[in-house]
Amino acid sequence: MSTDYGKDQIAALQEKAKRHLWLHFTRMSSYAENEVPVIVRGEGNYVFDQHGKRYLDGLAGLFVSQIGHGRAEVAEAGARQAAQLAYFPLWSYAHPQAIDLAERLASKAPGDLNRVFFTSSGSEAVESAWKLAKQYFKAIGQHARYKVLSRSIAYHGTSLGALAITGLPGIKEPFEPLPAGGVRVPNTNFYRAPEFVADDETAFGVWAADEIERAIQREGEESVAAVFLEPVQNSGGCFPPPPGYFQRVREICDRYGVLLVSDEVICAFGRLGYYFGSERYGYQPDIITFAKGVTSGYAPLGGMLVSDRLMEPFTSHHGPDITAGMHHHLHGAETAGQHTFLHGVTFAGHPVSCAVAMANLDVFEKEDLLGNVRASEAAFRATLEKLHDLPIVGNIRGDGYFYGIEMVKDKASRETFNDEESERLLRGFLSPALFDAGLICRADDRGDPVIQLSPPLTCTQEQFTEMEQILRSVLTEAWTRI
Ligand SMILES: Cc1ncc(COP(=O)(O)O)c(C=O)c1O
Repeated sequence: MSTDYGKDQIAALQEKAKRHLWLHFTRMSSYAENEVPVIVRGEGNYVFDQHGKRYLDGLAGLFVSQIGHGRAEVAEAGARQAAQLAYFPLWSYAHPQAIDLAERLASKAPGDLNRVFFTSSGSEAVESAWKLAKQYFKAIGQHARYKVLSRSIAYHGTSLGALAITGLPGIKEPFEPLPAGGVRVPNTNFYRAPEFVADDETAFGVWAADEIERAIQREGEESVAAVFLEPVQNSGGCFPPPPGYFQRVREICDRYGVLLVSDEVICAFGRLGYYFGSERYGYQPDIITFAKGVTSGYAPLGGMLVSDRLMEPFTSHHGPDITAGMHHHLHGAETAGQHTFLHGVTFAGHPVSCAVAMANLDVFEKEDLLGNVRASEAAFRATLEKLHDLPIVGNIRGDGYFYGIEMVKDKASRETFNDEESERLLRGFLSPALFDAGLICRADDRGDPVIQLSPPLTCTQEQFTEMEQILRSVLTEAWTRI
């Protein structure tokens, strides 16, 4: 496949991009004087830009490309499916690809999570989980439960419902008022733990979990529907759970009848060495939301896995019909008196995406990618931890193939950068310098400034070393510019 771009073609792409394309979460004005980075091809753990320059994909695109790039067999599975049946909705119909994938995901999911509701993205998965929680509680007569708890600085998506769960004030403020009911609890950044638990991670975890209980009590226990937590919180820079944290959260949720939603849009499908992050940390969610790695990005797909217990009110033939007046069904499967989850999107469980997901999971099995992550994660950590000798590196944290490096102005006091320094350091220097040096990763200052790494699960020591070397040289240079 030729992806060589000539000079004229490159110039034309630049002009068209600047004139017509609107990049997400991007300050477009920053491209007025600079070239828009254009990625044209991927191969394994690397991608190539329009000039043919190679980059190590240290972020798996956007926490997506678990199996790496350029897998012909996965692409071909999608093409075959498009030729056979490109599209049919999951609105009262099914197709074999969604059926097979639902069965396969259910067989891998922890405990009693047995039922898959597909979406086309992570935000939709998160919104679906909130909507299911709301309708479920109405269906069982607990009408006041609608609030959702989530952690400070956590990212759960950007559509308005998901944004109400997201805990990043900066990206919410322009869109307020948001749907009511989002409540924040503390995150598990042990590096920034309150002083009274700063030297005991277990005690810190107890405190952070108990803050969920206190929030439930404060809000009114009859009003809280669900708690949304990532196994390892991405935003803020990879906060793994303190020991015992999720076990205690599970107990609290059970005590108050609140649903525990494990938002695994990033952490599922091998990111932490398991199909699901909750498996790694040994807790049982009521709902798992997923997206990204389920297809490794060869086509878009998301969804939620729920227990039969949550489905029960929707399978019962008894009780009040909350769908009264809504019988514009397509196929007549729905009958009066039967409950229906009143939610759907056109491209959910798209046949091509489901076929691609099956082929993706075949690669996981054939190449034992979970085994590779479990066998290699200690080496990944040890390689990154070499960076501790740099004065700017305050903390390195994460699990599996998922790490955050927090940068500080003063290692001893853990003093962070002010807004102006952070702007100069991250946007002005680090992001372009890392890219120029051939490493795709993310310099993020939505919490304290961090660099996020989340490479394909196929990476080995060769890539760990490459990441460490590029980070070492760029972070060394950054320190001289503060
Ligand atoms: C934990 C989590 N939830 C939800 C989302 C939203 O997913 P999407 O961008 O597919 O809507 C993301 C995206 O990064 C995420 O990391």
